[in-house]
Amino acid sequence: MINDNKLTLSNNIALFQENNIRVIIISIKSMGEKMEKGLFITFEGIDGSGKSTQLELLEEDLNKAKIDFLIIREPGGTLISEQIRQILLDGKNQEMTPETELLLFEAARAQLVNQVVLPALNEGKMVISDRFFDSTTAYQGFGRNKDVDFIQKLNTFATKDLMPDLTFYFDISLSTALKRLNARKHKSDRLDIEGENFLEKTRQGYLKIAASDRDRVKIINAELTVDEVYKELKSYLVQVIEMGETNEINSSHC
Ligand code: TYD
Repeated sequence: MINDNKLTLSNNIALFQENNIRVIIISIKSMGEKMEKGLFITFEGIDGSGKSTQLELLEEDLNKAKIDFLIIREPGGTLISEQIRQILLDGKNQEMTPETELLLFEAARAQLVNQVVLPALNEGKMVISDRFFDSTTAYQGFGRNKDVDFIQKLNTFATKDLMPDLTFYFDISLSTALKRLNARKHKSDRLDIEGENFLEKTRQGYLKIAASDRDRVKIINAELTVDEVYKELKSYLVQVIEMGETNEINSSHC
């Protein structure tokens, strides 16, 4: 019986190579049914990296495949967290200290994780978050030259040790990011108007985070076209599923 399941999964993996998102999702779902917790995926990148567009594409495919999933964005996602978001992004709050900023991001996250993310994952639901704690490490830690180790401890505290199963980091050069941001017509928020130096340090921070956790954080070249980037994203989903299958085989031998 178990072998039959594995065979089906292997066949699906062959189909993944054709980048058939429906097959990918069905397999994630079947893995999810075997796992106690839902899959937790996060999207990261500096402003203008195009991660939100990629998230919309994935959302469309998940809807088509009738998958039970939840998409959230940080900061925000609960009544309390959305109120904190307003304070954080309000352009009038120029006097906000780096410490206040850091603690507000963590406070918004703590509320979101406890109220929304953990219950959804415990129900076996897939959760995808537009930004998570790597944003704080990259922006408030590396971007603002603050104690990264301490920030990672705060991340752990705020999330009760919750770690994403997979993180997509959309990497983009500062010049491309600035071109895209300048082309946007919307009003800039408090963090959008930070200097170029801040964004570059944040980008370098993301690269360091990715280098220190290669299993979890996948670097995606976001300079490519929207379709090419999405294809790369899907190819990483394939790898995660392959790893899931390997673990399953290993554990069945124990
Ligand atoms: P938002 O408008 O949601 O931007 P984006 O679409 O780029 O996610 O604004 C979120 C801003 O907050 C963004 O500039 C990144 C920043 N941020 C941090 O500095 N630290 C954090 O922990 C998080 C979650 C976001």
